[in-house]
Amino acid sequence: MPSPEADLGGAAFIRAHTDLAPAPFVPGVLLHQADEPIGLWELTESEYSSDRPPPFWAFAWAGGQALARYLLEHPEAVRGRTVLDLAAGSGVVGIAALKAGAARVRAVEVDSTAVAAIELNAAANGVAVDAELGDILAGESGGVDVVLAGDVFYSKAMSDRMLAFLRRAARHGARVLVGDPERAYLPRKFFTPLTRYDVPVPHALESVTVKHTTVWELA
Ligand SMILES: C[S@@+](CC[C@H](N)C(=O)[O-])C[C@H]1O[C@@H](n2cnc3c(N)ncnc32)[C@H](O)[C@@H]1O
Repeated sequence: MPSPEADLGGAAFIRAHTDLAPAPFVPGVLLHQADEPIGLWELTESEYSSDRPPPFWAFAWAGGQALARYLLEHPEAVRGRTVLDLAAGSGVVGIAALKAGAARVRAVEVDSTAVAAIELNAAANGVAVDAELGDILAGESGGVDVVLAGDVFYSKAMSDRMLAFLRRAARHGARVLVGDPERAYLPRKFFTPLTRYDVPVPHALESVTVKHTTVWELA
């Protein structure tokens, strides 16, 4: 028997299960985050399993936080440019890009609740992200200047498709930056490191409290 909450739309569900709080490693960025990660995970896997993927959007992942921090410290990377935030989750990377002066950010997600979270989080930070539901990995990057992807190399299938997309984007002239906390499927040989950070993470999610995280540029 579904709980009454099963009828909540994306924004109401997010507000009901998160708090608006600072992203731990991205100064000045607020996000709707779950303070008890596993509880929300279990909730989506039980009551909502038929129509809700795991709540990746409820956490700022180490890769995304590192990339967002990099943009705030190096605003010239995005200032005045059009940006694609791919697999955007909470939207932390795209929000930081706009705060750093990006002209426009398109954020793409396969999870409709993430799209709602990106819109809520962008509004909470006083910026406007063009959040979009869909899987564009078989296609093109749409002529943007910069493609950003935070913490996307966590599975073999995702990594293969993501790398192919990012390489096509680079061939079409985009600068491609990723943030990655030493996930197993990072195709390292294609990337050049730009900087490294130690990013605080919830122990319940990562089994450690800090992830050594690198911002990479597709070579
Ligand atoms: C580990 S989370 C990272 C989120 C965010 N970039 C960050 O660093 O906080 C990975 C995200 O990829 C999204 N995702 C998975 N496959 C995708 C695809 N083909 N296209 C777009 N997003 C996808 C998931 O829904 C999830 O939100």
